[in-house]
Amino acid sequence: MTIKKAVFPAAGFGTRFLPATKAIPKEMLPLVDKPLIQYAVEEAKASGLKEMIIVTGMGKTAIEDHFDTSFELEILLKERGKTALLKEIEEVSGLVHFAYTRQKKPLGLGHAISITRNLINDEAFAVFLGDDIIDAKVPAMKQMIGVHKEYKTSVLAVQRVNKKDAHLYGVIKGEQVAPGVFRVLDLVEKPKENPPSNLAIIGRYILTPGIFDALERTRPGKGGEIQLTDALKILLETEDIYAYEFEGNRYDAGDKLGFLKANVSLALKRPELRAEFKKFLKQLGF
Ligand code: G1P
Repeated sequence: MTIKKAVFPAAGFGTRFLPATKAIPKEMLPLVDKPLIQYAVEEAKASGLKEMIIVTGMGKTAIEDHFDTSFELEILLKERGKTALLKEIEEVSGLVHFAYTRQKKPLGLGHAISITRNLINDEAFAVFLGDDIIDAKVPAMKQMIGVHKEYKTSVLAVQRVNKKDAHLYGVIKGEQVAPGVFRVLDLVEKPKENPPSNLAIIGRYILTPGIFDALERTRPGKGGEIQLTDALKILLETEDIYAYEFEGNRYDAGDKLGFLKANVSLALKRPELRAEFKKFLKQLGF
């Protein structure tokens, strides 16, 4: 069965970006000229997913407005002959369907996924953590769908990190079965010490519906939150899980430095900005 649905947890407070995120959702911070969450939605679209389920919370209505049709704005752009901008605006909300559900309490990533149960039914689905921006020739999720088609299991995106940074991630222990593909043997959320490997989970997942029962059995873990990694460990008792080392550059835009890096490198890829921006960076002495 093909994967149609994508879940975007977006209920977090964005404390790492205060005060910018006091009145604006973190997901709406711009990378060049698009809000963070749009990159993940575009990746989902480019991977063939059609139904976007955004898990929001208090103060997140800007996200819904962003993916809605803005009738007045579209008329204005049409009248002013700004066809390129108009096309871009229309594309944001076109061709896919958006549904929103609210996470009423900040109980963690696992909890955010668990509340989408009645919207997912009995099918495998994709999860995108919008903080992770992945710049890739073939969209990272499309690469993962290829792996899912072959193994029919949950698939986790992984990337090699320095062992000293492993405490920031869910980390897997895996057995390589094909180039870039690992059968997961164990996984641990943010290991304080002795990570089982340097393969860190990055914010892209394909999950089988079995995750929902596993989530129900998951007790609060790191930070007192229901952790998706812990639920995956429970799922592993009854189902195989694979991990895939995707090809592409990943930026942690949920972190100030990562956010700046993403802005600079994505801006340098824009034909209309590249030359002038490069000149400016040189002037700064880089
Ligand atoms: C979450 C997950 C973690 C994963 C990370 C990827 O952590 O809990 O397992 O490695 O996303 O970005 P967060 O960064 O939200 O704390």
